[in-house]
Order: sequence, then structure tokens, then C-alpha cells
Amino acid sequence: MLFFPPEGREHTVPLLPACAAQVAGGLLALMLALTFQSLWQIPLLFAAAQGLAAAGIAALLRAPRWWLAIHLGFVPLIVAARMLELPSWIWPAGFLSLLLVFWRTDRSRVPLYLTNATASAAVGALLRPTPCRVLDLGCGDGGLLLRLARTRPDCHFIGFEHAPLTWAWARLRCRGLRNIEIRYGDFWSHSLHGYALVYAFLSPVPMERLWHKAQREMDRDAQLISNSFEIPTISPLRVIEVADQRQTRLYCYRPAG
Ligand SMILES: C[S@@+](CC[C@H](N)C(=O)[O-])C[C@H]1O[C@@H](n2cnc3c(N)ncnc32)[C@H](O)[C@@H]1O
Repeated sequence: MLFFPPEGREHTVPLLPACAAQVAGGLLALMLALTFQSLWQIPLLFAAAQGLAAAGIAALLRAPRWWLAIHLGFVPLIVAARMLELPSWIWPAGFLSLLLVFWRTDRSRVPLYLTNATASAAVGALLRPTPCRVLDLGCGDGGLLLRLARTRPDCHFIGFEHAPLTWAWARLRCRGLRNIEIRYGDFWSHSLHGYALVYAFLSPVPMERLWHKAQREMDRDAQLISNSFEIPTISPLRVIEVADQRQTRLYCYRPAG
């Protein structure tokens, strides 16, 4: 049985199978410790056995390769970190901060990474010369919108963000500019109608769903720009190679054109 989503079914939630691999890894390590008593005495060794078992089980469940590294290191790193004897509030505080920044990445499958200044300028060059409205789907810290809004005071920029801390940070950064609106919430429930340019820097997972939404809702002459992630099976009208360090590619589409 496949617990981890194969290609094309990436929308399924990977958290449950990941937990299952961790718990099963723990049980296997316990069984091993009943045979080899030395595992009880050296916690890091026990944790390493658990990590190995969890990674092995995840591999059997066909987890993506980068998940195996997480399984391998998860419990051993917890045990190693506990040896540092840090104050106990550090752990819930760290968990809460990560949760508020990354929110439900396990569901959205879109983590936080940011558009750099060079790529922002390339996006700015794609804006029509007349006043228009621009939408950033998952605006992160608002950096892209801030740069665009400064160079194009005649345009109106709207960003949606669902991670609470990231949203609050973006609101704070953009509060001085009248042509930016940072809204809290899920961009999937917002219509793409009325925007000249919709920008997405997401992940491979939601691109097909985004394409269908864009085809239904975007205006005929509106552009959809995707940073780094192509829409499967759809040829972009243009691909812009940005001269930045990470060699960003901007895929340009006109979904309703
Ligand atoms: C890769 S970052 C891009 C940030 C920003 N657009 C940029 O280019 O600098 C994607 C952001 O989208 C947010 N996000 C993911 N799914 C979302 C959703 N359904 N609704 C609102 N925000 C979402 C994430 O929290 C993350 O901050």
C-alpha cells in the first residue's frame, strides 16, 4: 500500500504516514533494545536505532527521499538537543514560532521562501505601463509587493497570506504604503478576477489546481507569473531567465487568453 503520495497525488496529507513511520520506528527500536540491552544505556544509540528504523519504514512506504533524512535525524536530534540542557520553555516556544511561520505546510505543501530583489525587478518589468491591480498568492513577508509598490505608485498591490506570524510581519512592513493591502487568509477562496497580473511562488504541488482556478477566474488579458514552478503539461507563453544567483525562472501564462 502507498502511504506517501505518488506523483500526481501530492495533494494528500503526508503527516499521518510520517507519524506512523516514526511510531513504528520507535516500536522496532524498543524490540531491538529488548535483545541488545546496551541500547537502553546509551540514549543516543537508542535514538539512532529508532531513526534508522523509521527511515527504513518510510522508504518502504515510498516516502520522498528528502523525508528519509528527516526520519533519520528527528529523534536523534531531539535526544542530542536535550543534552544541551536548555531551559524547558525553549521547546514549546520554538514549536510555536515554527508553526506560526510555516502554518499548515503539511496541507498547503507550500513552504516559505522569498522572491529576491532581482527577480522582483523582473516581475516589475512585466507590469503593464498603465495603472493596474496585482495579486501575490501567498505573499510571505511582503517583500516582493513592497518593492513593486515603491516603483509603481500608480498600481494597487494585494497579497494574501495564511501563516499568522508571516502575515503580521508583512502587514507591519507594508503599513506605510497606501497602494499595498496585506490580507489574512486562504488565497484559494479569493477570486482572481480584476487583476492584471497574478504572481505565484508556490511549489509543484498546487500548480495544476491553480491553472484551473486561473482559467475560470482571470481576465482575458491578465498574466499569471509563476516563479520557478511550471504548470504541468501547459507551455508557458514566455520563460524569463533572471540573472540572479539561484537562476530564477519566471513562467508567464495567459490562462484565459
Ligand atoms: C514560497 S512563499 C512566497 C512568498 C512571496 N510570494 C514571495 O515571493 O516572496 C509562499 C507563501 O505562500 C503562503 N501560502 C501557502 N499557501 C497559502 C494559501 N492557501 N493561502 C495563503 N497563503 C498561502 C505560505 O505561507 C508562504 O508564505
